[in-house]
Amino acid sequence: MNSKQSHTPVGWDPVADWYDGWVGPHGSHHHRKLAIPAVMSLLEPRPEVQILDVGCGQGVLAPHIADSGAVYTGVDISPKMIAAARRHHPSRGRFLRGDARHLNRVSALRPHHFDAAVFLLSIEDINPLEEVIASAAWALRPAGALVILMRHPCFRVPRQSGWGHDEGRKLRYRRVDSYLTPLSVPMKAYEHSRSGTTISFHRPLNQYVNALAAHGFAVDYLDELVTYEQGQNRAERRANEEFPLFLVLRARSIDPKG
Ligand SMILES: C[S@@+](CC[C@H](N)C(=O)[O-])C[C@H]1O[C@@H](n2cnc3c(N)ncnc32)[C@H](O)[C@@H]1O
Repeated sequence: MNSKQSHTPVGWDPVADWYDGWVGPHGSHHHRKLAIPAVMSLLEPRPEVQILDVGCGQGVLAPHIADSGAVYTGVDISPKMIAAARRHHPSRGRFLRGDARHLNRVSALRPHHFDAAVFLLSIEDINPLEEVIASAAWALRPAGALVILMRHPCFRVPRQSGWGHDEGRKLRYRRVDSYLTPLSVPMKAYEHSRSGTTISFHRPLNQYVNALAAHGFAVDYLDELVTYEQGQNRAERRANEEFPLFLVLRARSIDPKG
């Protein structure tokens, strides 16, 4: 596996029907109970503010942004995901087909137009990271906010992490087999969508922070989110409270005028 290997130019098209069926128009439990509230509180949407949702999928965030009065634009490389977003949320914003790495090639977008951009569980599916962050910087106005919610890269490494049970200590522990090596991991076929595969990119945390800094962003907030699930016994409850499975951060592009 090699982090430079690029993935299909249609993103999640091969699994779009499965994903849309699983997540639905309003998001999975994790979207609704954890991910959407976390990004909404960092985006701080207000009327008229322009928000760009990068890797928007079938647009689960659109109604939340629209309800706040802010103006929603979603971009995704998958034609099927964009079609589903338009079907589910016809009057909640605009949905554009485009590559997150080259937002400047999306004819409907203008440079430095957006007050905020968000990657909701999408940045781990897009490579290379440097191009993605540079592209977001192109879309944001000076001092604009970039909000990223992703699987926690320190505790969730595709195929390289998981739960373990220590019978002697009656503990549930988190096992991480590798971390510093960036990975490009084909995700196994999904139920009911056996033909489809997507590629997930693991990067250590330093790559995210350093790519943001290299493109003029400074992190002003970071949180590590545990699951909303309670756990079925003491060991599970303790592990669920102790290990964050998601990371959310906000970075601001530094305004050259100060
Ligand atoms: C896990 S899905 C998340 C979708 C949505 N944000 C959500 O939370 O439901 C990842 C999305 O990233 C999109 N994607 C992958 N590569 C992309 C790229 N280069 N440009 C834009 N979107 C991309 C996929 O098509 C897919 O819809």
